[in-house]
Amino acid sequence: MAIRLGDIAPNFKANTTAGEIDFHEYLGDGWGVLFSHPADYTPVCTTELGRTAQLKDEFAKRNVRVMAVSIDPIDKHHGWIKDINETQNTNVEFPIIADESREVAGLYDMIHPNASATATVRSLFVIAPDKTVKLTITYPASTGRNFTEVLRVIDSLQLTAKHSVATPADWKLGEDVIVIPAVSTEDAQKKFPKGLNIVKPYLRYTPHPEEN
Ligand code: BEZ
Repeated sequence: MAIRLGDIAPNFKANTTAGEIDFHEYLGDGWGVLFSHPADYTPVCTTELGRTAQLKDEFAKRNVRVMAVSIDPIDKHHGWIKDINETQNTNVEFPIIADESREVAGLYDMIHPNASATATVRSLFVIAPDKTVKLTITYPASTGRNFTEVLRVIDSLQLTAKHSVATPADWKLGEDVIVIPAVSTEDAQKKFPKGLNIVKPYLRYTPHPEEN
């Protein structure tokens, strides 16, 4: 069954490159990213896992723990990690699940039979501290994901979790945000002391609430 926004991210116990892990325990009180790739020792996947490892500090800054999934066995993962570290000039430290039984792939609907009968597609889930799913994206095997975009969405999600705001198209951290329609202009004036730019009654911008 497909995972939808707002669903509780299914929990599982899995064999990973960092040992046996209970997924919810691994996430703790923080945010999470769970993402699948089609297979070990493939070129696009090598760049994706390398990029994720390079962004370790960016994920940590946002209190996000990352976990990858593939249906390949654990010894293959360990061999491939050496190649990723060598070719992408990084150090993969996040766990990679060896989902040989396809339990995790099934729970998260990561195999799309009309794309490939056996390989997982490039699914990615962002999970909030309350374990609800906040973002799902699905890319085909031939297209590597944009992990800068993943971080950008996490910035937006974390901001909107704290303030009554949304973020406009192509928004980046630090830029003006949008006051959500549920907040009246009168309330918004009190709530956002940095001021409002009212373009239309339904289109109201305010400076990023936390940036100077
Ligand atoms: C890759 O990661 O390079 C890849 C995997 C499966 C199909 C196509 C590309």
